[in-house]
Amino acid sequence: MAAEETDTGSGPVTLRRSVPAGAERRAAELCWGAFGRKLGPALNPPDKAVPFLAARLDADRAVCAFAGGELVAFAEYQLGGQEPAKGAATAVLRTYGRIRGLYRLALLALFENHPKRGRLVVAGIAVDPGFRGQGIGSLLVEELAAIAAERGCREIRLDVIDTNSRAKALYERLGFATVRTIRTPYLRRLLGFGAVTTMCRSVAPKGLPAQ
Ligand SMILES: CC(C)(COP(=O)(O)OP(=O)(O)OC[C@H]1O[C@@H](n2cnc3c(N)ncnc32)[C@H](O)[C@@H]1OP(=O)(O)O)[C@@H](O)C(=O)NCCC(=O)NCCS
Repeated sequence: MAAEETDTGSGPVTLRRSVPAGAERRAAELCWGAFGRKLGPALNPPDKAVPFLAARLDADRAVCAFAGGELVAFAEYQLGGQEPAKGAATAVLRTYGRIRGLYRLALLALFENHPKRGRLVVAGIAVDPGFRGQGIGSLLVEELAAIAAERGCREIRLDVIDTNSRAKALYERLGFATVRTIRTPYLRRLLGFGAVTTMCRSVAPKGLPAQ
């Protein structure tokens, strides 16, 4: 898929609308680095989790950012009305075994999302810690919004947990507004967060004005 170069002020960054073959493991490492605390109870230990995430990655529903030829940021998304990405259940049971796998499946179900038609849902955005604060996360969000518009979506949604107030502030600056907050205090000890806020930004499908 076509790549596009932008200068963030800290150097050129190239965006790509897919994960190139061979970069799946690096993308999975970025996800694990960013979301390991949240995903750990379902996917630990890391030496199982990272290959599992790499194998399950949907390369064509992702945006990557490269700096100096290295994959430094990654975002995954789902489009409403499309088949969900590869089924998790069999893969989880195969990787972790039947007994342990069932508990993990129950935890993973908490993060599952089946977007409605006309909606792009961001499954995750992860920037390499050494490259944060340079505008790369914002570039990924704008690229996701462009994809949403091209695919005829009316809105782009994402979830942010209550311990991530800096990310929430960033999304607000980028035009997202809170739709709802679901409080999950019983998950705080296990997963490290006690509430999830869904945020939304309107998108003008290509050729139509934004609502
Ligand atoms: C949140 C995240 C994607 C932002 O990417 P980024 O490239 O740093 O974002 P930008 O440079 O475009 O914008 C910087 C802003 O991001 C936000 N931010 C959130 N966490 C940050 C971090 N650890 N380091 C730097 N900025 C962070 C802040 O609002 C920051 O602005 P500030 O410096 O004024 O507080 C990135 O920090 C990240 O990968 N964090 C870990 C994973 C995560 O939280 N993902 C989002 C889940 S909803």
